[in-house]
Amino acid sequence: MTSQPLLAPFRMGDIDLRNRVVMAPLTRARAGMVDHVPTMLQAEYYAQRASAGLIVSEASAISADGFGWAGTSGLWTPEQVRGWRRVTDAVHAAGGRIFAQLWHTGAIAHPDVLGGKNPLSASDVNLLFETVTPVGRKPTVDPRPMTREEIQRTVQDFGRAARNAMEAGFDGVQILANYLYLLAQFLNRTTNRRTDEYGGDIEARSRILFEVIEAVLSVVDPARVGVKISPMHEGGPFAAHEETLPMAEHVVRRLDGYGISHLLLMGNNTDFTGTPLEALSGDGMFRHFRPLFRGTLIANTNMTADRGNRLVAEGLADLVAFGRPYIANPDLIERIAAGAPFAEIDWSTVYTNGPQGYSDYPALRQRAA
Ligand SMILES: Cc1cc2nc3c(=O)[nH]c(=O)nc-3n(C[C@H](O)[C@H](O)[C@H](O)COP(=O)(O)O)c2cc1C
Repeated sequence: MTSQPLLAPFRMGDIDLRNRVVMAPLTRARAGMVDHVPTMLQAEYYAQRASAGLIVSEASAISADGFGWAGTSGLWTPEQVRGWRRVTDAVHAAGGRIFAQLWHTGAIAHPDVLGGKNPLSASDVNLLFETVTPVGRKPTVDPRPMTREEIQRTVQDFGRAARNAMEAGFDGVQILANYLYLLAQFLNRTTNRRTDEYGGDIEARSRILFEVIEAVLSVVDPARVGVKISPMHEGGPFAAHEETLPMAEHVVRRLDGYGISHLLLMGNNTDFTGTPLEALSGDGMFRHFRPLFRGTLIANTNMTADRGNRLVAEGLADLVAFGRPYIANPDLIERIAAGAPFAEIDWSTVYTNGPQGYSDYPALRQRAA
């Protein structure tokens, strides 16, 4: 079974990975509620999954302003850096590799987690989604448009968080630029109505992203910096429109010039039928973007071992990221090697506290014993 392409080693930038399987970033809300410090429980959970070629951590906020989801972790205080050090040490001791995912939630935050202040965004467009507060989910509010000074500070905060991540022992960082969060709020025409140099056409709307990338590259080697981006159709203000794909193409083409570590590309996780993204359904996403990016391309969303092996064999992906399967299968690699079925997720415990439904999913071997 070791002839499976997914199980072959791979060199990503200057790092040797022992296989081509990536654990996709998964927010699990097990960090300290007040200090946002990663816990020993998180160290145990990540170490259990260290046989992945690469782990991308759960999204971690770059600053207090960028924090917007109760129970998630941060990367702006010394205590948070020390907390993450326990995680990276545990993963490295188990022979794994781990990148930190850098996150600013922007308008997906609530005054309840921001000391009563409204969240920041490109413009004052309510995302009409839900946000997670310490007392449960609440509807998003109208965000406050960032001043240019706040944009500059945020760019610097990304750089500082990247430096903190390397100090915490991460092997690299990944910038979260898709879904509905701050950078995506700038990229998206519907949520960015600015009239200054950060709004307007595709180039202007992506300005903040490239400033962030350059701030991160000023402190971390490009071989250790990745980006997660993909055109998405999430409904509401994030429904795909005719500029969604051109924006993603523009960003990926420009990223290609930086010689970065990787691009983590999600396939469709919603139905693209009837949207301008229809042709990108299924493997269409990887076929479309593979020629635009010469670095390591990580394909994600609805992967199985068979599909992942095929995408690597066909040259459509270098690495394959599994998100949901890693929740219930700490030993995903062993299961792929054995051709064993993947265990099912208990969704009721995905975002709760403590080890239940987090670090207590058994490996195949434990189950057999
Ligand atoms: C519980 C859960 C938490 C997630 N948290 C994050 C996150 O913190 N950052 C991120 O970029 N994506 C996050 N995602 C998306 C996954 O990384 C992945 O892109 C998505 O689940 C598709 O992969 P899959 O089909 O293998 O699950 C999350 C997904 C789930 C199910």
